Amino acid sequence: MTSTTRSALRSVPAGPALREAEAKGSSLLAAVRAGLSASPKTLPAALLYDDLGSALFEAITLLPEYEVTRADLRLLEARAAEVGALLPGADVVELGPGAGNKAKLFLERFAAGRPLRFSAIDVSEAALRDCRRTVEQLPNVTVATTQGRYLEGLREVMAARRPGVPVLALFLGSNLSNFTRDEAQAFLTSIRALLREGDGLLLATDLDKPASQLIPAYDDAVGVTAAFNKNLLARLNRELDADFDVGAFRHEARWSASARRVEMHLVATRALDATLGVTGDVFHFEQGESLWTESSHRFRTDELQRWGLQAGFTTAAQWTDARWAFAHTLFRVQSGAES
Ligand SMILES: C[S@@+](CC[C@H](N)C(=O)[O-])C[C@H]1O[C@@H](n2cnc3c(N)ncnc32)[C@H](O)[C@@H]1O
Repeated sequence: MTSTTRSALRSVPAGPALREAEAKGSSLLAAVRAGLSASPKTLPAALLYDDLGSALFEAITLLPEYEVTRADLRLLEARAAEVGALLPGADVVELGPGAGNKAKLFLERFAAGRPLRFSAIDVSEAALRDCRRTVEQLPNVTVATTQGRYLEGLREVMAARRPGVPVLALFLGSNLSNFTRDEAQAFLTSIRALLREGDGLLLATDLDKPASQLIPAYDDAVGVTAAFNKNLLARLNRELDADFDVGAFRHEARWSASARRVEMHLVATRALDATLGVTGDVFHFEQGESLWTESSHRFRTDELQRWGLQAGFTTAAQWTDARWAFAHTLFRVQSGAES
C-alpha cells in the first residue's frame, strides 16, 4: 500500500530576507522577489531542485569529483546492519532522499527482509517519483511520500506514525550543509522535538577538508554542477515567465575559510536587467555581481556531537569514512527523555 501527501511547497531561506519571506508563508514568487531584492542577491538552495535540477543532481553524484556520495554509500553499506541492531523494528523516514538510491541500499541491510514502512519527504516531485520507484523494488517495504519542506513533512509523518513502533530519521548526503551553523543546531533541535523516546536520527555530514579537494566537487571539469546552478535561472524563466539571459551568467564555486563552506554563485558577465514576467518586477545586475544560490558547510565530528547533545540527543555511534572525511552520526532519544 502506498500513499502520497502534499505539504505547501515553500522554499528554504538562505538569508534574512528569505527567512522573513518564509515566516510569512511565502510562495516561490515571494521567495524569489525577496531574494533578488536582497543585498547580496541570494536564492534558497531548495529552489535548485525542480525536475531538471533533480536529474542534474543525480548526475553530479556520478562525477569523480563528487566523492561525498560514494563516502556516504560506503558508510551506509558498512553500518546499516549495526544501525538495525540498535533500532530493532523501527520504521524509517528520510528527509530529502533524492532518487532514493541510498535509501534502498540502507533499507536492504537495515531491515534484512522484515516488513517496514518507509516515508520520503522532499520538495521535489521528480525526486519523490524516482525514490518511490527505487525503494518499491524492496518487497518488504511500504513506501509513502510527502512533498514539502523537511520539518513540515516530518511533522505530518510523525503525526501518522504507527503506535509503539520506533522511528529512525535519515538525513543523508550532507543535506545539513545547506544550513548555517546556527540553523543546523536549530534544525537538530526541531527534529528532536518531533521524535520520541527510542527513536533515532542517522545524520550524514561532510567533514572539514582542504579547499583544493572541495572546490572541484562544486566546479567539475564536465560542467554538470554549472548546469545544475544555471538551471535555477532557467527555472525562473519557465515558471515565473522571467527573461534571464542564462548565457550571461557564469558558475562560480567559492571557498569561505572563515565560514568553512563552499558557496555557489552565478556571476553576471555583463550589466543586465531581468524581468519577472508574472509581476513585471525588474532586477538589475551590475557586471560581476553575483547571485548566491547555495552554501555547503563543512563540519567537525565534535561539533556535531555537541549540537546533538544540546538538541537533547545522545550519540549512540559515530563512524567516519577512511577515504574521504565524512561522518555518520547516530543520535538516539534516550530513555527517560521527555518527548
Ligand atoms: C543534495 S540533494 C541530496 C539527495 C540525497 N539525500 C543524496 O544524498 O543523494 C538534496 C535533496 O533534498 C531535497 N531538498 C532540498 N531542500 C529541501 C527542503 N528544504 N525540504 C525538503 N527537501 C529538500 C532536494 O530536492 C534533494 O532531493
